[in-house]
Amino acid sequence: MRILVTGGAGYIGSHTCVQLLEAGYEIVVADDLSNSSETAIHYIKGITGKEFPFYPVDLKDRERTEQLFELEPIDGVIHFAGYKAVGESVERPLMYYENNLVSTMNVLQAMRKRGIFHFVFSSSATVYGDPEILPIPEEAPLSATNPYGCTKLMNEQMLKDLYQSDNRWNITLLRYFNPIGGHPTGLLADNPNGIPNNLMPYIIRVYENKLDQLHVYGNDYPTPDGTGVRDYIHVIDLADGHVAALDRMKEPGVHIFNLGTGTGYSVLEVVRAFENVNKCRIPYVIDPRRAGDIAMCYADPSKAERELGWKARRSLEEMCKVVLI
Ligand code: UD1
Repeated sequence: MRILVTGGAGYIGSHTCVQLLEAGYEIVVADDLSNSSETAIHYIKGITGKEFPFYPVDLKDRERTEQLFELEPIDGVIHFAGYKAVGESVERPLMYYENNLVSTMNVLQAMRKRGIFHFVFSSSATVYGDPEILPIPEEAPLSATNPYGCTKLMNEQMLKDLYQSDNRWNITLLRYFNPIGGHPTGLLADNPNGIPNNLMPYIIRVYENKLDQLHVYGNDYPTPDGTGVRDYIHVIDLADGHVAALDRMKEPGVHIFNLGTGTGYSVLEVVRAFENVNKCRIPYVIDPRRAGDIAMCYADPSKAERELGWKARRSLEEMCKVVLI
């Protein structure tokens, strides 16, 4: 099977490319490099020893998106391409709605034209809003609290409507919890531009002495140590979830899966695990809560295990281990 991976130069996309190639899939990668670099493409080729075509296209450009499908034989698409920073989405909502919705529409239109109906979408646990039930099952109520989250929900809705209109579509929505960690070569790390928003890239900057100290956002949550609890998942386990979805989801429909470990860790537990495994100290201060944050979020991943035969295997220590290159 030949898979178009959009956003394949990004953090989750690049790890998924490696796992797909190692599982025997052929890939074509499209990425506008707006939040990634072509170096990732060279690393993927270096790690796997395999070649594949790369197109630096902006999927908001409908003509160029359609051209891509004319040039390359494609059997299915994994759609990672999208903006992902919550704070930025609040400041620049139109940029988020345009990029995250138009690119999906263009890819789907091009697929439909060419009779390709196999689509895997990069969704997020953000669609559960502030969850009422823990661990969170796939049937939990959906809501969004910021434009980024809205784009994920709207894309999900668009895909459900699409299947209703034409039941040849085979759509999988993968709802990611908190991916961290990286390839054992250290070559495909989550390395955002500027000051990171997410916990692990921030901790790594402190470890590298590029930032002074971690700011822990709140220690008065109703959690065991007062800091926020999340379901951190190794990005390679997450990438394997995509391979499992392609391998197992052969029937048309809208298939929805949580990709998480099922275990929640607090911010301070992550800091401690990071310090132990990397033999270092991460200085931190307690700051007020961050607007929009929730106390606890962790998955019920049992549906993915049952139906995809997939389960996250890597420990928090493996997720925290820094590889020096
Ligand atoms: C965030 C987004 C989520 C998105 C995900 C991936 C919010 C509210 N949610 O998830 O929608 O899908 O990123 O991009 O932004 N923390 C600190 N100090 C820091 C950074 C984080 O204490 O410098 C804490 C947070 O309060 C939270 C935990 O660490 O308790 C994880 O935060 P983060 O890595 O940003 O992920 P989420 O907020 O869960």
